[in-house]
Amino acid sequence: MLPEGIIFGGWPMGGWHWSSVDEKTAMAAAESAADAGIQWFDTAPVYGFGLGEERLGRALKNIDSQVYIMTKFGLRWDTKGTPFFETTFNGQKRAVVRNLSADSIQTECEASLNRLGVEIIDLYQLHWSDGKIPLVDVAGVMERLKESGKIREWGVCNLNTGELHNLVNGGLKPASLQFSYSLLNRKPEKSLISYCEKHKIRFLAYSPLGRGLLTGKASTARRFDSEDDRRYWKSERVSDINRKLAKLEKIASSHGITIPALILAWTLSQPGISGVIAGARTPGQARENAKATSVQLTADESLQISGAGGKGIWHNLTNIR
Ligand SMILES: NC(=O)c1ccc[n+]([C@@H]2O[C@H](COP(=O)([O-])OP(=O)(O)OC[C@H]3O[C@@H](n4cnc5c(N)ncnc54)[C@H](OP(=O)(O)O)[C@@H]3O)[C@@H](O)[C@H]2O)c1
Repeated sequence: MLPEGIIFGGWPMGGWHWSSVDEKTAMAAAESAADAGIQWFDTAPVYGFGLGEERLGRALKNIDSQVYIMTKFGLRWDTKGTPFFETTFNGQKRAVVRNLSADSIQTECEASLNRLGVEIIDLYQLHWSDGKIPLVDVAGVMERLKESGKIREWGVCNLNTGELHNLVNGGLKPASLQFSYSLLNRKPEKSLISYCEKHKIRFLAYSPLGRGLLTGKASTARRFDSEDDRRYWKSERVSDINRKLAKLEKIASSHGITIPALILAWTLSQPGISGVIAGARTPGQARENAKATSVQLTADESLQISGAGGKGIWHNLTNIR
C-alpha cells in the first residue's frame, strides 16, 4: 500500500510556523480527516520538535478506520553540528542540524515509532539531503530498516532529478518523492514529475494550497506569530490571487465544494501526480479538503483553473514575500 489521493498534512499539528495551534483542535483535525475517508497521514519529527508526531499518535488512538503513517528523518534539533537553519518555537531558540549517519537514522526511527505509538512506519522518508553522505548510503540504511520490520516502504523529499537518478542508477529506487507543487509553483512539471512517472516513483505534492494563499481567504490583515513566514505575504499579491480565485467560485459551487477543495482537486488531477498532501489546522478544513478526492473536473474547468486570470496564478512562492 502506497500513498495516493488526498493525504492529511500534519505540519500544522506541530504548531511550529503555524501561529498557535491548540492540541485539541489539531487532534480533532486528524480525526475528522479519517472520518472523511482519508487514509494517509504525513508528519515529521521537526514539526513542532516532536509535538506533531506526538499529537498525531494521540489522535490515532481515537481513529478506528485503517490509516497509514508517513514520517521523515534527517532534521535534528537534539544533536550538535552546523545548523541547517535556526528558528524559534514557542519563544525557544532551536538550531536544526542535518544528520544522515546510519546511527542517527536508526535513533530517529525509534524515536518516531515511540512518539507515534506505532509498531511500524508505513512510509519513511528522507526529509532533506545533507549534500555530503551519498544518497545510496542513506537508501541502504532505509533498506535495512525495512528488512528489520521497522518500516514498510521508504521515500524521499526535496531531491532534484539528478539526485533521484543517482538512486535509480544505484538500483535503489524510492517508493515516492515529496516535492512542493501547486498552482503557485509548477516548476516540477519541467522534468521532475515526468521522471517520477517514467520510473514509477509516486510524486506527492506538498504545500498544494500555498500555505493558505490558494484558499481564497488569505489576508495580510491577519496577525501571524513571529515564527510564521506568512507574515511576509505581500498585500498586492494576496489581493491579486484572491481576485483570480474568486472567478473560480462558480466552478467550485457547481461541484458542491469551496475554493481550497477545488484547488486540491485540480492539483490531484494533474498528469503524474499520485498524491496531494494538504495541511489542515481544523476539523472543518480537513473535512472540506477530503472532498477533493471525489471531484472530477472537466477539461474546460481544469483549463480555467490553470489559467485563472491571464498568465494565471503561476508564481514561485518566493516571489510572493
Ligand atoms: N517534505 C517536505 O519538506 C514538506 C514541506 C512542506 C510541507 N510538507 C507536507 O505537506 C503538507 C501540506 O503543506 P503545508 O501544510 O505547507 O501547506 P498547504 O497544504 O498548502 O496549506 C495548509 C494551510 O492552509 C489552510 N487551509 C487548509 N485547508 C483549508 C481549507 N479547507 N479552508 C481554508 N483554509 C485551509 C490552513 O492554514 P490556516 O488555517 O492557518 O489559514 C492550513 O494549515 C504539510 O502539512 C506537510 O505534511 C512537506
